[in-house]
Amino acid sequence: MASPAMKTFPSEADAKAHELLYQRCTDLVSSWPGCEGLAYIQLFRHEKGWYSGLSPHVGTMVADACFAARPSDVVVATVPKSGTTWIKALLYPTVHRREHHPAAAGDHPFNSLGPHECVNWLEYQLYAANRLPDLDGLPEPRLLPRAVAASGCKVVYVCREPKDNLVSLLEFVNSYNARNGRELVTVDAAVDFFCDGKTSSGPYWENVLGYWRAHLAHPERVLFFRYEEMKRDPAAHVRRLAEFVGLPFSSREEDDGVADAIVRLCSFDSMAGMEATKSGKTRLPVGDVANSASFRRGQVGDWANHLSPEMVRRIDAITEAKFGGSGLINFC
Ligand code: A3P
Repeated sequence: MASPAMKTFPSEADAKAHELLYQRCTDLVSSWPGCEGLAYIQLFRHEKGWYSGLSPHVGTMVADACFAARPSDVVVATVPKSGTTWIKALLYPTVHRREHHPAAAGDHPFNSLGPHECVNWLEYQLYAANRLPDLDGLPEPRLLPRAVAASGCKVVYVCREPKDNLVSLLEFVNSYNARNGRELVTVDAAVDFFCDGKTSSGPYWENVLGYWRAHLAHPERVLFFRYEEMKRDPAAHVRRLAEFVGLPFSSREEDDGVADAIVRLCSFDSMAGMEATKSGKTRLPVGDVANSASFRRGQVGDWANHLSPEMVRRIDAITEAKFGGSGLINFC
């Protein structure tokens, strides 16, 4: 699947209406209190308590107003830095395995398109730049990021151990800061921001708990994966993914090792080595972002190389307090 066609030539009246909608949302978000956080953009406080930069906030609001989900849609939801790129990568060849055999890695679309170009962000890519995307023409099931409540569509959620999520985000923000001659965020400040919920995607624990509860209530609609478990047994997760989207592997595909081929194609080393990753870029409102920025180490437990014992105790205590009794068992 390529990116959807944008309504490049809407009527003048439509274009004006879209522009007005974006402007109204921009004015509203700009009126909210702002703050610094673990992000490379200024954060704004939403009435429901989560934070994000201006354009993703506006994109989210426009998407909420205009995006009509279908029951056949598959929506990817994650706290960024939890494995979004990986789950998008796994979903795409799972759904499109009949057109593009995952074992033929040299011919796969991933050679020219990164996962974020195959499965676009609603709030960063599709609903941005005063335009509304034309999603009607996308083949079903449409693979879309971010959840849309009450639509009946399927949601794939990935969560990651909070300390690894924090370190991954800090490294991502600081690599952006370093490239743009900005001051780096210290680990101390990053831990404070993270614990206060001041990150570009809002409070980590509330986000995970929300999707965990939705999964418990509607397991057939909300698939809940953990990055650490995906690392331990990726093939089992690809099989669950295929079943969840209604395309289970046939016994012939099992004999042919198709699930394993998808795992190999989407492994960290394979994806990081693709030309589309090494030299490709994804267009976002903040500018073009190198596809390679989504790949750093891809390890479990890297937090141990960055956080002091006191920071670890602080974050673990919050995790214990927030997740205790929820049924979310310990990470790692
Ligand atoms: P690290 O920064 O710990 O290396 P997201 O895609 O949600 O932004 O998450 C990025 C994290 O997922 C990064 O973690 C990145 O290296 C890791 N990642 C990206 N692709 C991966 C893959 N194919 N397998 C495992 N981890 C991957």
